[in-house]
Amino acid sequence: MVKICCIGAGYVGGPTMAVIALKCPSVEVAVVDISEARIKAWNSDQLPIYEPGLEEVVKQCRGKNLFFSSSVEKHVSEADIIFVSVNTPTKTRGLGAGKAADLTYWESAARMIADVSKSDKIVVEKSTVPVKTAEAIEKILTHNSKGISFQILSNPEFLAEGTAIQDLLSPDRVLIGGRETPGGSKAIKALKDVYAQWVPEDRIITANLWSAELSKLAANAFLAQRISSVNAMSALCEATGADVSQVSHAIGKDTRIGPKFLNSSVGFGGSCFQKDILNLVYICECNGLIEVANYWKQVVKVNDYQKSRFVNRVVSSMFNTVSGKKIAILGFAFKKDTGDTRETPAIDVCKGLLGDKAKLSIYDPQVTKDQIERDLSMSKFEWDHPVQLQPTVPAAGEQIWDVSADAYEAVKDAHGLCILTEWDEFRKLDYQKIFNSMQKPAFVFDGRNVVDAAKLREIGFIVYAIGKPLDPWLKDMPAVVA
Ligand code: NAD
Ligand code: UDX
Repeated sequence: MVKICCIGAGYVGGPTMAVIALKCPSVEVAVVDISEARIKAWNSDQLPIYEPGLEEVVKQCRGKNLFFSSSVEKHVSEADIIFVSVNTPTKTRGLGAGKAADLTYWESAARMIADVSKSDKIVVEKSTVPVKTAEAIEKILTHNSKGISFQILSNPEFLAEGTAIQDLLSPDRVLIGGRETPGGSKAIKALKDVYAQWVPEDRIITANLWSAELSKLAANAFLAQRISSVNAMSALCEATGADVSQVSHAIGKDTRIGPKFLNSSVGFGGSCFQKDILNLVYICECNGLIEVANYWKQVVKVNDYQKSRFVNRVVSSMFNTVSGKKIAILGFAFKKDTGDTRETPAIDVCKGLLGDKAKLSIYDPQVTKDQIERDLSMSKFEWDHPVQLQPTVPAAGEQIWDVSADAYEAVKDAHGLCILTEWDEFRKLDYQKIFNSMQKPAFVFDGRNVVDAAKLREIGFIVYAIGKPLDPWLKDMPAVVA
């Protein structure tokens, strides 16, 4: 029986290993983590992450060929294949701070593997890492190997949250990079055999290590670039009377462009896009490619611009002041069908409005008050550092935001409402009832283009929708300059 161990029981490690266990009954899969609380949750009825379909898969395999454990060293030493799926956050201090990937967690995992291994191992990079990380890891492993052979593979993960199980069951491609040596080819084949149990052979791509590592950063950069491109267009649409949805539809019909990932929004969020682009920028700078670095940096800059543009619209529409006004925030997760808030645009929008002294009432069907509290008090990039995950206590003072049990409670007596996540339930709300319970004039700021703006205007709302022709009210209120 092949034994697999995955270090890191997070958004990637948990679902990925659950699907491997489901599809490969003859493989024993152990998922280990330094966080005892996370492992406890994986072994309970309340899984640590919300992901459609995940619970069913875990319930089918847990205790049979899928195990979640805190005995990290035991499972690592017994495994034939070790996946490393730990955090690779943006550095918060020192050289490259704010850009470079912090490989502290990866390196400590590699040193531990070298320490406890007594038989040959295949070590698989599942985390997203800078190009050439495999070389560094190889050095750590071989210099501490005690005669054991380690083969390093790069097998980046392309799943998106909210659709992780679907993406894992039916991936566009699986990418495996390895050394172009007999040992490397043998290791690639061993991993390919695992995926081949359910992924068609023509979707399993092999490459050299550096191409595989770079492909992951490139894929995320290209995807994020599409969103920044359409978001840049949304600003021009608002200025000219064009409609960004119509523009997206028209350009997406070109088969060379394609229709996906062209939804204009308040900005992209999530744990990957910004982090991976900043990492790419840093690698370019380190290689003296300043023009290339600046090109990719712009994708993040446009994303920041989109978030502050949204805040400016809210403030300028409401007579240039939101001080003391209640504003409802509908949606805090970075996208629908997940409770994940890492780098969600809602954090920047809420902080922007709180900076202008608004009173926020926040509702999200999957995000807890504790999580929002952590997000609004943590400084940039701190969220992805496990040892620093202690919530910082916000400064004592007036409570200027709160969490509501549902959307109707959040909007009661509010001057405006902002839709920041495209949860399906926000499309189906009774907006007449909402209008009746709000202060007048009542504003809707739709950061995800989920409402029917024309219908809401009939009810009496003043509506701002990203990239859509402006409400006459907004035309008379030029956006404030930050
Ligand atoms: P995560 O924070 O959810 O999970 C990482 C886990 O690793 C944490 O539970 C942490 O406690 C654990 N960990 C850290 N150091 C450890 C160690 N030395 N030993 C044991 N456990 C340790 O992160 P994630 O979202 O699963 O991302 C993991 C990696 O995958 C990152 O490199 C990320 O960029 C990449 N990735 C993420 C996604 C995504 O959608 N979240 C998609 C593709 C790739
Ligand atoms: C992304 C990549 O899609 C995935 O391949 C990679 O493995 C991890 O990073 P994820 O961040 O989970 O996945 O979600 P994704 O669907 O890519 O959305 C990222 C952000 O972009 C979200 O905030 C989403 O709302 C936003 N987005 C997406 C848009 O604003 N417009 C779009 O058209 C698509």
